[in-house]
Amino acid sequence: MKHAIIAAIGAGLIGLAQFIAPAAAYAHGQSDDTHRAEAGWSIAIHGGAGTLDPDRMTPERRAAYEASLQAALDAGARVLADGGSAMDAVQAAIVPLEDDPLFNAGRGSVFTWEGTNELDASIMDGRDRSAGAVTGVTTVRNPIQLADRVRTDSPHVFLMGQGAEQFAREQGFAVTPPEWFATEARRESLDRMRANALSSLDVDHKFGTVGAVALDTHGNVAAGTSTGGMTGKRWGRIGDAPVIGAGTYADNQSCAVSATGWGEYFIRVGVAQEICTRLRIQTTFREEPCPDDAIGGSYCVSVQLPDAEVAQDTADAVMDEVAQLGGDGGVILVTPAGHAIFSFNTTGMYRGRATSEGVNEVAIFSGEAR
Ligand code: GLY
Repeated sequence: MKHAIIAAIGAGLIGLAQFIAPAAAYAHGQSDDTHRAEAGWSIAIHGGAGTLDPDRMTPERRAAYEASLQAALDAGARVLADGGSAMDAVQAAIVPLEDDPLFNAGRGSVFTWEGTNELDASIMDGRDRSAGAVTGVTTVRNPIQLADRVRTDSPHVFLMGQGAEQFAREQGFAVTPPEWFATEARRESLDRMRANALSSLDVDHKFGTVGAVALDTHGNVAAGTSTGGMTGKRWGRIGDAPVIGAGTYADNQSCAVSATGWGEYFIRVGVAQEICTRLRIQTTFREEPCPDDAIGGSYCVSVQLPDAEVAQDTADAVMDEVAQLGGDGGVILVTPAGHAIFSFNTTGMYRGRATSEGVNEVAIFSGEAR
């Protein structure tokens, strides 16, 4: 895929950026208008990972999940195909997943031990690494939009509980009644957990967190994640989804990641930022004379971005660390070169990806679309 000032050569991707000034423009992720027409986009989404068995899922239920994933993927892809921003695409994909009771985010969120739904979300813009996050929200229909408003209209990154609610009201977010979020299936999970002294893993079987990552045609990446957390959470427990660096991270110089899984382990490993940091370290820059330098005195910077295999191996290695500690789950990522990658150490992850190169797929179980 050609992207901005980046052209594919051999196994990796090489970019030649011609600058009179130092190479800071590239280093800050600016793209070159003259190349924008041939720039590509990509997007990946997830709806949670966990113990998923194809033999225990009816064809009707599978079709329902696939239809929901496809609708969310299409919503995000449309934004990108129209030249919209990665930030808008991420939200366009996450909002329908938050509204869909099949997933543990927004409507259909799991219950706390006390029988409430408390929602977490975060979002990050790879252009400038601005970020917004909320936790313990109870009356905002689409927490991902509130997280973005924290990013754009507050001096802060992370708001919790009552304060986040107050900020939402001041920003004009409508009060959504608790009944909107509550579903019978999630209530039964809590009841079983309480009656049988089960763990949330026994009753959930999967982490239904939702998320999206995107690369737009302007060369910018973004990531967002939204969740109800884990069934029976108590004492104000917060998972990885709203924690920047754990569940969500985006930086134009490395990648964008959204995670789903056993949040405590993802926080301990710092999964999202760890993957991006390793990819940034594996990116190499080289100064050389420009091949078409008519004026003289300018120079070019060639950029060797990690290829798809390196990106996959990097994500897999970080997920292996999660597994070694005893955690499970998965991640989605996109790179500035346009690779859309899945990595998970569970038997399934609800997921999808699409690119300007014609990739368009949704999948649920291990071994599919990888
Ligand atoms: N990964 C979602 C959570 O642990 O809350």
